[in-house]
Amino acid sequence: MKSIGLFTSGGDAPGMNAAIRAVVRTSISSGIKPIGIVRGYQGLIDGEVIEMNSHSVSNIIQRGGTILKSARSIDFMNAAGREKAFANVSKFGLDGLVAIGGDGTFIGAKVFNEEYGIRVVGVPGTIDNDLYGTDYTIGYDTALNTVVQMVDRIRDTASSHNRLFFIEVMGKDAGFVALRSGISVGAEAILIPETTTYIDKLVDKLRNELKRKKSSLIIIVAEGDESGGAYEVAAKVKEQFDQYDTRVTVLGHVQRGGSPSAMDRVLASRLGSGAVDALIEGKNNVMVGVVNKEIVYTPFAQATKHHDKLNMDLLRLAELLAT
Ligand code: F6P
Repeated sequence: MKSIGLFTSGGDAPGMNAAIRAVVRTSISSGIKPIGIVRGYQGLIDGEVIEMNSHSVSNIIQRGGTILKSARSIDFMNAAGREKAFANVSKFGLDGLVAIGGDGTFIGAKVFNEEYGIRVVGVPGTIDNDLYGTDYTIGYDTALNTVVQMVDRIRDTASSHNRLFFIEVMGKDAGFVALRSGISVGAEAILIPETTTYIDKLVDKLRNELKRKKSSLIIIVAEGDESGGAYEVAAKVKEQFDQYDTRVTVLGHVQRGGSPSAMDRVLASRLGSGAVDALIEGKNNVMVGVVNKEIVYTPFAQATKHHDKLNMDLLRLAELLAT
């Protein structure tokens, strides 16, 4: 293996730069030339590549975002786009690819591999934590910490005004971000797509909190909750219960930025390096992950088909401790 192409794709996540650094420096230490592909699959189609060396990844481990930039490429979803992408794989002499991203990235990688035989190893980089085959994805821990910081601030103002807040967090169709951030901020309720949201039950709960004279109430709503999101739940609740002054906050893309946490930097370093090792060992079409502290490799088909089940004990714990 003489040359590896690496790219970041899909929604960016804090820690992607640490993963890029690990891929580049592990490649170099194994005598492999790392080639950075800019803007993910779109950059591969457009032939936007940069030769990388140890210096090109200096001083990035602490930076959020991705120095290679990211995109969600529509062109790569078409056979014609993939044909162009493969022409560039040949042109630049890439013997393997490291794809850093989420499920969409790996679904694309699998198709590309099946059509053209190019070897690809995936590194899970997404704040959503919604991939099977790793306990945590790169960016999840940082996003959680960001949410917790933001909600703690909201709690301060909510208590001052005796207000009820509905706070929407990201996570696509999974409740990982909502659940762990909800526990961390002592949310009075956590609404996630993995459980059914009953407005009546929520209103009963809020009435109880009122009896207990709680000075503030925080409801964390996962963006993928079937209720439709924080604004929708707030409106439905208000029809039955308007004893608290109510506000809605959608945290949005603030959750995707920022300097990665130490946990994410270590995870990204291990996974980026593990991806290069995998290519050298001849592995293909797999995502590298950490399960029970060990590096493991999971076929893309499995990694993207479903994600780990949410730990419902954590939800019960959150409910118990918030009463
Ligand atoms: O997958 C990461 C994520 O931030 C999701 O949590 C969210 O649903 C989505 O990306 C937002 O995507 P975009 O940045 O394209 O609006």
